Amino acid sequence: MTHVAIVYHSGYGHTKALAEQVANGAAEVSGVTSQLIPVADVDSHWDDLDKADGIIFGAPTYMGAASAAFRTFAEASSKRWFTLAWKNKVAGGFTNSGSQNGDKGNTMMELVTLAAQHGMIWVSLGLPPGNNSSKGSLADLNRLGGSLGALAQSNVDQGGEDAPIASDRATALAYGRRVAEIADALKRAQL
Ligand SMILES: Cc1cc2nc3c(=O)[nH]c(=O)nc-3n(C[C@H](O)[C@H](O)[C@H](O)COP(=O)(O)O)c2cc1C
Repeated sequence: MTHVAIVYHSGYGHTKALAEQVANGAAEVSGVTSQLIPVADVDSHWDDLDKADGIIFGAPTYMGAASAAFRTFAEASSKRWFTLAWKNKVAGGFTNSGSQNGDKGNTMMELVTLAAQHGMIWVSLGLPPGNNSSKGSLADLNRLGGSLGALAQSNVDQGGEDAPIASDRATALAYGRRVAEIADALKRAQL
């Protein structure tokens, strides 16, 4: 079996809703199991991360960057960095913010950099930008037009059950599936 772990922070439930979609998408791939790990619980799950074939990082964008709780996890992962324990694992990432842009790009760069410091292999979103023409709509996959990973926007007056919208959730689902497919293919290739 190929194992994909999703390690994430969510202060108010929006990024958690995305994380669940990413995990569901990964689990759709035959031969893949997925596991959700909130950063608050990571101390009981370092072994799961060490054994995972793929790790997907999820953080809300707070003040134009990954949330402090996620950064605490990222810094704690330096113990793995010392031995390059996660080298050649597949990596991915997603973020969510209140504003349409919200400076999510900076958060994504933090997640890419974290993966690169660990020597991991980053998986892009692999979807064309949606909602960027006169025929586009909010219902398009990748309606926020990212490429590094899955992006979402959650209205600040709605809870995690209502926000982000269905297209962002579907984008996260497709991304989880893509990361899992690549993690599984690389594991089978026994590089
Ligand atoms: C401390 C803090 C800082 C925030 N900074 C930003 C920001 O820089 N850009 C933005 O668009 N939204 C910002 N927001 C809004 C959150 O990104 C948004 O509410 C998001 O849905 C929260 O996700 P969560 O429920 O998973 O924590 C901020 C929220 C908080 C609490």
